[in-house]
Amino acid sequence: MWDYTDKVKDYFFNPKNAGVLNEANAVGEVGAIACGDALKLMLSVDPESEVILEAKFQTFGCGSAIASSSALTEIIIGKTLDEALKITNQDIADFLGGLPPEKMHCSVMGYEALQSAVANYRGEVWKDDHEEGELVCKCFGVDAGLIERAIKMNKLTTVEQITDYTKAGGGCLTCFDKLEEILSNANAEMVAEGLLAEHEAYRVGAADPKKLKEKAQAAKAQAAQAPQPQPQQTLTQISPLAPMSPLPPPSAGMTNLQKIRMIEEIIEELRPHLKKDGGDCELVDVDGSNVLVKLSGACVGCQLSSVTLSGIQERLMAKLGFPVRVVPVGRNAH
Ligand code: FES
Repeated sequence: MWDYTDKVKDYFFNPKNAGVLNEANAVGEVGAIACGDALKLMLSVDPESEVILEAKFQTFGCGSAIASSSALTEIIIGKTLDEALKITNQDIADFLGGLPPEKMHCSVMGYEALQSAVANYRGEVWKDDHEEGELVCKCFGVDAGLIERAIKMNKLTTVEQITDYTKAGGGCLTCFDKLEEILSNANAEMVAEGLLAEHEAYRVGAADPKKLKEKAQAAKAQAAQAPQPQPQQTLTQISPLAPMSPLPPPSAGMTNLQKIRMIEEIIEELRPHLKKDGGDCELVDVDGSNVLVKLSGACVGCQLSSVTLSGIQERLMAKLGFPVRVVPVGRNAH
């Protein structure tokens, strides 16, 4: 079972600085809801001193993603942009008293969002732009640049660690060969720069993809059985997710049947990502603008199910172009 520190649980259930920052003059967005994790970081930066006066976030992801995003905002408020840029994903994890290895990707997402927000403030293009980088893991939308940065910043030397820190390789493992190649090349560069001992460097063929798949499946089963800590607040109070972008204009000329099919397709797209964390969601019915869904697996009884439902709702509205309300039914109804 994943062992969370008390501080992670606190930031998980009582997130600081969650929500929209209307007066933001720097915004960084990383990940994608379709890939299971997304984070939007908004900063208010003093133009004279470049001090971060305020920081807020919206995220779609697991509890560790919320805790990491919240921790990040606490760390950077009061710092100049240059000081903030020196913060690593390990600093975020350390602030929380550590994260389970399998959840380190949440701290990496925070790091990437910060880099992206600062680049946005300075009118630069963040180099993690997926259109520029080579997409390596299609299951989780992870590109080569992010993997290389995570390897070098955290001195990663195994494919398993790449999955922990970036999620790449945590699904079908079609990307395994590419992950090996990136890791061995990056480690070779680190050895040449004196940052890694030669015997620690990864060599292609050292990892067994079958074992990695078994481990991923075992982690999924573990997530499904893991009890959730009890929150101090209600779900709606802690949910930091609100629509991340304005809705497109309403779709015209769609029949009810077409709408239902589209809703079905969108939910089907999201299910693999929920399953990865041991949960699941099925469409039960569409009643006017109410989309009735049934959560199952780890989503049942999960104190963050409202975050999941908000994410599904936002995704539906963004694609459909009109407001809908996602309502849980069955055991999870409230
Ligand atoms: S493509 Fe990377 S896990 Fe599927």
